[in-house]
Amino acid sequence: MVSEKLLKELNDQFNFELESAYVYMSMAAYCSAEDYDGFAHFFIVQAQEEYQHAMKFYDFIYDVDGRAIMKAIPEPDKDYDSILDAFKKALAHEELVTSKINKLVDLAKEENNHVTLNFLQWFVEEQLEEETSMKKIISTLERIDGNFQGMYMLDKELGERVL
Ligand code: FEO
Repeated sequence: MVSEKLLKELNDQFNFELESAYVYMSMAAYCSAEDYDGFAHFFIVQAQEEYQHAMKFYDFIYDVDGRAIMKAIPEPDKDYDSILDAFKKALAHEELVTSKINKLVDLAKEENNHVTLNFLQWFVEEQLEEETSMKKIISTLERIDGNFQGMYMLDKELGERVL
């Protein structure tokens, strides 16, 4: 149903979604160390979302008679210059995810694999949402410009994020 080449790429993306969860946990750990519990909570929920993304790939791989293979996860950055820097790196990470999803779509198109194209459509839309949400937070942080009250309010707001 799915070529070996496409299965390998789907498995790589399964692993990259797990890696993404690990990257966001590292950002959460930085925010906690800076005593910003709300920003930390936001990144913990983001990590949980990435785990859910990974599981979507996991389930799909088995639906098309493949097998998931776990790979080593690289150590993420642990230090950031600021909360703004962490969010800028989160956006850069999402842009990388988007490019990987787009490559998967290209390959599925090349192979005329409609079931995979259909599966990937959810991720195409999700990536737009993820990038938009990071961009909004970055522009708010830039406007706040380190102001204590602004940081307090945004930390409180992001602390209410639900999965
Ligand atoms: Fe699973 Fe944030 O991309």
